[in-house]
Amino acid sequence: MRLEGKVALITGSARGIGREIALAFAREGTDCVIWDVNAAEAEKTAKDIETLGRKALSGQIDVTDFTQVEAGINKILDKFNKIDILVNNAGITRDNLLMRMSEADWDLVIKVNLKGTFNCTKAVSRPMLKQKAGKIINIASIIGIMGNAGQANYSASKAGIIALTKSTAKELASRNITANAVAPGFIDTEMTHKLSEETRAKMLEMVPLARMGKPLDIANVCLFLASSDADYITGQTIVVDGGMVMH
Ligand code: NAI
Repeated sequence: MRLEGKVALITGSARGIGREIALAFAREGTDCVIWDVNAAEAEKTAKDIETLGRKALSGQIDVTDFTQVEAGINKILDKFNKIDILVNNAGITRDNLLMRMSEADWDLVIKVNLKGTFNCTKAVSRPMLKQKAGKIINIASIIGIMGNAGQANYSASKAGIIALTKSTAKELASRNITANAVAPGFIDTEMTHKLSEETRAKMLEMVPLARMGKPLDIANVCLFLASSDADYITGQTIVVDGGMVMH
């Protein structure tokens, strides 16, 4: 097993990509902490982790609230005594064209996606610095690289995450803590189920591999970044998008 005995915190892991990351980690020997605003669904994911033979802790935590985040980290330390891996996955969209985008929708997306990532990274850095080890993985998006009409708030939040990942990597490298981002393309989850058939068809035309990604496509890359195979990789953004963005 690639992550035997590790403890991972995955935010927004009640469903979708976050849930798949938690299950993939658990299959490789990791105890998982499931944080989400949706308590009932988070509890379900935690039960599924336990069915795989690992320990699990679920918490109704809103990543935008630093007080909640800090209290949640203390709970994890009480139960597990350490945190080896943080995956900042919680994220939302509130799409609209710039002209029609409300200030509230701008603020909310930046708050959940970018400030939430900052909050969890800041709170987890204290125990990781003490441990002199840690892996931080931030879920960005190719939209943070290429931009997208109707997603000014989302693209700015995800570009911010990519920059935050680099600064985190530089600050924490001397203590053996890595920070990397994963930039998914068009992945089959409830987030993309909201899109119209027409938009989905247009997006698919842009994917050279001619299919939507599966949450497991993202989880597998997170697994690699969390493992010792990636010990010498930090500050990077790995694009997982079926070839939509090519550098
Ligand atoms: P999803 O909407 O299925 O799941 C997101 C989860 O985050 C939900 O369980 C939700 O309750 C939770 N969440 C929302 N706000 C929260 C908060 N303030 N605190 C804690 N938890 C919160 O979305 P999906 O598709 O699984 O996305 C996961 C991540 O992947 C997001 O960061 C998203 O931006 C990113 N992503 C997704 C892509 C896709 O095509 N589905 C493409 C690129 C990036």
